[in-house]
Amino acid sequence: MAGHMSATSETSIVEGSPVYPLGSRVNERGHLEVGGCDVVEVAAEFGTPVYMYAEDDIRARARAYLDAFRARTEDFEVLYASKAAPVTAIYRLCAEQGLSVDVASGGELHMALRAGLDPTRIYMHGNNKTEAELRYALEAGVGHLIVDSFGEIARLDAVLDRSQDVLSYVQTGGLDSKFGFGLEDGLAARAIAEVRSSRHLRLVGLHAHIGSQIFELEPYAAAIKALAELADGEWECRILNVGGGLGVAYTSADQPPSIDSYVDVKARGVQRVFDPVPRVLIEPGRSLVGNAGVTAYEIGTVKEIPSVRTYVSVDGGMSDNLRPMLYGSRYEAIVANRAGQAPDRLATVAGMHCESGDILITDVMLAGPSPGDILVTPATGAYGYAMASNYNGVPRPPVVFCKGGDARLVVRRETYEDLTGRDVE
Ligand SMILES: Cc1ncc(COP(=O)(O)O)c(C=O)c1O
Repeated sequence: MAGHMSATSETSIVEGSPVYPLGSRVNERGHLEVGGCDVVEVAAEFGTPVYMYAEDDIRARARAYLDAFRARTEDFEVLYASKAAPVTAIYRLCAEQGLSVDVASGGELHMALRAGLDPTRIYMHGNNKTEAELRYALEAGVGHLIVDSFGEIARLDAVLDRSQDVLSYVQTGGLDSKFGFGLEDGLAARAIAEVRSSRHLRLVGLHAHIGSQIFELEPYAAAIKALAELADGEWECRILNVGGGLGVAYTSADQPPSIDSYVDVKARGVQRVFDPVPRVLIEPGRSLVGNAGVTAYEIGTVKEIPSVRTYVSVDGGMSDNLRPMLYGSRYEAIVANRAGQAPDRLATVAGMHCESGDILITDVMLAGPSPGDILVTPATGAYGYAMASNYNGVPRPPVVFCKGGDARLVVRRETYEDLTGRDVE
């Protein structure tokens, strides 16, 4: 019974937590379970570090987006912003759920096509698309390109020998950005005129993305209003892509708005200020996959510096999760094989890289962290795998889908051979 009682005391940390994948729990063995799979067993089978995704979590969030739209309009499209986790299996899963896709490079386009996506449902972004990328997109039959600069308008028009639907990227949040055409300085209006007078580009709509990890909804309404004023001309804005950006809970202190209220602001916001009302597109990345994923590591060294801190080092770090170093992002952690025990030790979780700044979490309470334990950081499903590197010659971790107790490898771990596989001599 002791185990049962301690597992119950853990309920508040895992079960029902907005940070962990839906359905996560502490099982009868006192282990963390994700997608019905015992994390300790997954770590033993696939090695560590390993990215684990609860497949049903992504599906549920995709459905939540679609249901929220269906309740408000028939004319919409939800695009998976695949930069968040460009994994072939995730592209497929999103397509199965009825989502379209946003790609931001030739490489993401390639992965989306390899995943079997209908090219007409692909939207291609990029503030500096090369001519080769533009040609690739056109040859593949990509439905819409989002034009981002005057140079690109000219380049795209020059390589085309037929008409191509485009959206124009409008920068609604100030002038000083490498993305899009500013509103206030009149460049957005000039870009519209330029696209409309081009030979082959057909302007079908506008796009704006006001940022990421956003917790307030009001700025979306303001951006939509600004776009409506811009669209109020002698051309018809048939598509309005209002970007992604909905924030997620990285720790239990984070309380992002619901998917439903986010869609409400966007769908109703457009209905309120546009006449005629265009098709509404959104591009969620983080909020589709962020909380669906966790990363499992093995603890190696535990270094206690008396009166200073205890470093718990894991077998990954900035090469599989750059966000703490890049943005100072805060994460939670749990010792998966002691998930039923109350956290009793203040520790700093360090990576294995040759950088003193390679710290995943400063000051987190853990349950008796010891060498050989499996440490899990939740909410690593977005921009973790996507930004992974081979720093220090570390092979990138595998990706495992967990569903109903089945763990399925969807991306294998890189090998040492992969590290030298591109050498030419
Ligand atoms: C143009 C565009 N769309 C969509 C996204 C996805 O944003 P998020 O992951 O915050 O939903 C981004 C992220 O940077 C973006 O630049």
